[in-house]
Amino acid sequence: MPAEDDFTVTPYAVEGDIDYDRLLDKFGADALTAEQKAKFPDPGHPLVRRDVFYAERDVDPFLDAANEGKPHSIVTGRGPSGPMHIGHIFPFYFAKYLQDQTGTLVYIPFSDDEKYFLKDKSLGEISDYTRENLLDLLAVGFDPERTRIIVDTADADVVYPLATAFAKEVTQSTVDATYGEPENIGLSFYPAVQATHLLLPQLVEGRHPTLVPIAVDQDPHVRVCRDIAAKQRYDVAKPGALLSKFLPSLEGPGKMSSSDDAPSILLSDDRETVFDKIRTHAYSGGQTSLKEHREQGGNPEVDVSYQFLYYFFEESDEQVERLAREYQQGSLLSGELKEMAAENIANFLEAHQERRRALGPLEEELEQYRLTESERQDARRRAGYPDNSLVQQ
Ligand code: TRP
Repeated sequence: MPAEDDFTVTPYAVEGDIDYDRLLDKFGADALTAEQKAKFPDPGHPLVRRDVFYAERDVDPFLDAANEGKPHSIVTGRGPSGPMHIGHIFPFYFAKYLQDQTGTLVYIPFSDDEKYFLKDKSLGEISDYTRENLLDLLAVGFDPERTRIIVDTADADVVYPLATAFAKEVTQSTVDATYGEPENIGLSFYPAVQATHLLLPQLVEGRHPTLVPIAVDQDPHVRVCRDIAAKQRYDVAKPGALLSKFLPSLEGPGKMSSSDDAPSILLSDDRETVFDKIRTHAYSGGQTSLKEHREQGGNPEVDVSYQFLYYFFEESDEQVERLAREYQQGSLLSGELKEMAAENIANFLEAHQERRRALGPLEEELEQYRLTESERQDARRRAGYPDNSLVQQ
């Protein structure tokens, strides 16, 4: 960890107590303005209203295109290194909300290659998580006409030719400076793959504004991709980014990580498990005794149950404001807040699990979301490959 900071945020490591504003200075991204928030479709989304998506790069071209009914797209992906928890899913529900509102195209890449390079897991394990995670993504209910799901190793006929084109634009020293020295050559190459993800909608459909709603740790990938786009060797606009804070872990502020000791709330957890995890583990901003709490009140800023409700699981602004007030005044107790958070999360998960159970076999469901042959061909052509290249048709 660099000496001047007490936190680290890169795509491969998130540690310490994150200062989100300072991070923007470091990354060179901008805070999302009130004006920009007002350009999102009405009714707005709590994640935008409440500054969970708090920063941006070039969000305006996307919002303008959306408002003018012109082509626009979203890319938000998944690295399948384990079971998905509630912190992983909210960008996808957000993308689904925007798709319902504006008809945006949504591209969802799965970086199974990245996670194999990065984690101590076998190809078989990563493949199993890919299948599992895909079912969760399908359960979100995207419109198959306007959504494409890409798995790096399974869609190699398009991913590899494009990544090859972009890899030549990125030097090893850029990779070292942006991510820290990679542990293997797979991770050296991977930024070209994620750049491929972010440019894919434009390579398939032609130049148009793309927005990448992601947690702020993924911003370095966006920067590398924007530099490639800026060279104008390809007819693509720089993708924009909408950057989010991390959903706190049960243990308190910081990223909810599947690899820590504290349990995460998994998308597969049943009601009882959710209540159990929250009652036992959710960090409380309340006082130690009831008497003190009634007198001094609690701190919603650090209370994980409150933060869960605020981030995603309570839709009403009035209700979150009321809860914060009552908690600060001491009339609302930690235990009560925990029950509310658990109730809302359990309801959300039950609905999600219901949709997941209703899906048919994975291959069949996935088929309608895969790139068509002509889309693959178009993407390769726009990346510079001639139509008679020998890619298997
Ligand atoms: N790298 C991302 C992760 O580790 C997953 C991912 C792959 C992604 N391609 C993407 C995210 C494109 C956003 C956009 O979680």
